[in-house]
Amino acid sequence: MNERSAAEAASDILRLELGERSYDIVVGRGLIDCAGESIAPRLGGRRLLVVSDKTVAGFHGARLEGALSQAGIEHHMLVIPPGEDSKSFRGLEDLLCRLLDLNCDRTVTLAAFGGGVVGDLTGFAASILLRGVDFIQIPTTLLAQVDSSVGGKTGINTRHGKNLIGSFHQPRLVLVDTDVTDSLPERERRAGYAEIVKYGLIDDAAFFEWLEQKGGALIAGDAAARRQAVVTSCRAKARIVGADERERGARALLNLGHTFAHALEAENAYGPELLHGEAVAVGLVLAFTLSARLGLSPPDEAARIARHLTGVGLPASIADLRFRSWSAESLMNHLAFDKKAREGKLRLVLARGIGKAFIAEDVPPAEITATLETAIAEGGAEAAEAAR
Ligand code: GLY
Repeated sequence: MNERSAAEAASDILRLELGERSYDIVVGRGLIDCAGESIAPRLGGRRLLVVSDKTVAGFHGARLEGALSQAGIEHHMLVIPPGEDSKSFRGLEDLLCRLLDLNCDRTVTLAAFGGGVVGDLTGFAASILLRGVDFIQIPTTLLAQVDSSVGGKTGINTRHGKNLIGSFHQPRLVLVDTDVTDSLPERERRAGYAEIVKYGLIDDAAFFEWLEQKGGALIAGDAAARRQAVVTSCRAKARIVGADERERGARALLNLGHTFAHALEAENAYGPELLHGEAVAVGLVLAFTLSARLGLSPPDEAARIARHLTGVGLPASIADLRFRSWSAESLMNHLAFDKKAREGKLRLVLARGIGKAFIAEDVPPAEITATLETAIAEGGAEAAEAAR
C-alpha cells in the first residue's frame, strides 16, 4: 500500500468498477503539483510519455514535469497543436510516429494532459500503439473533468463526422485537479457546466436543485462548489459506465441533449460560435420540450431548466443562437444520421421529469420536427418583437 500524498489524502477517490480494468478517479485541489506521487504507484512500467497541447503545456507543463521528476518518474512531454484539427488521422499518425521515435515498448504509459481533444486522441493512440499500452487522464477543462476523461471512449474525427473512428480503452487513473480550471476562459467553464447539469437531469433531481443554488458561483470561482460538482458528476458517470461500459443500455442516458447538440454543431460546421457545451445546454432544453410535447414530462420543467441555464449565462434555446439562421429541415437531416445508424428508428433520450431520463426507442419524427420548428419560430418572433 502506497503512502498517499497530502493532496491525494485530502482528495475524493472514486472507483470505476470494471473488474481487472477498474481504476481510481482522484478529484482534489493542487493535484498537479504532486501528480508524481499519485501516478508512481499506479504506473505499470518505468516511462511516462505525456501528451499535451501548446496552451496547456504553456500554462501547467512545467509544474507537472517538476512533480514527475520529484517522484523519480522518467518522462517526456510531447506537445501537439491545440484544437480539433489534431483529432484527425493526420494528427494520430503524427503522434504515433513521434511516440515510436522515442523507442517506446509495451511497458510505456501515456498521459493525456489537456482537454477533450488531447484525451480522446491520446487514449486512441494508447489503444493501438504496439497493440495497446496503458494511459492515464489528467483533464484540464471542466468538460473533460466531468465527462470525456472518464469512461474510456477514445477517438478521432473524419469527414464523416466526429468520433466515428475510435475505441473503448479505459485509463488506469483519472487525476482531476479542480484548481486547473481556474485559468480557463469563463465561456469554456460555462460550457463545461452544461455537462454537469446533465447529470442532475438524468437521475438526480436533488443535485439539479443544488446546482440551481450554486451554479453561478461555481462558474465564477467558488472552488468548493466546483469540486463538489465535479465529484458528484464523476461519481454518476463511474456508476453508469461501470454498469454499461459499451453503451448497450444505460450509458446512452449520458447522451441526454446530445443528439440535438450534435445536429446544431454539425449544422454550424463545428464553428467557434457554438461550443459543444453550449449546444448541449440548448439540447437539454429541447429534450425536455419534446418530452412535454409528447405528454411525458410536466410542461414547466423545460422552462425551469431554461431559466437556470440562462441564469448562468448559457444559451437555452435555438432563439439564443443568433449568429446564424436555423432550419428544422436541415437539423432533421443531421438527426437522421443517427436514425440510419439505428436501423431506421429515431432513438433519443427523453424524460418524465427532472431526474427521470429514459431512452425512447421510436420517437415520431414529426414531433421532433414540430419541436424544432417551434423553437426556431420563437426566435423569429423574438427578433420581430425586437425590431419593432
Ligand atoms: N460522453 C458520453 C459517454 O462517455 O458515454
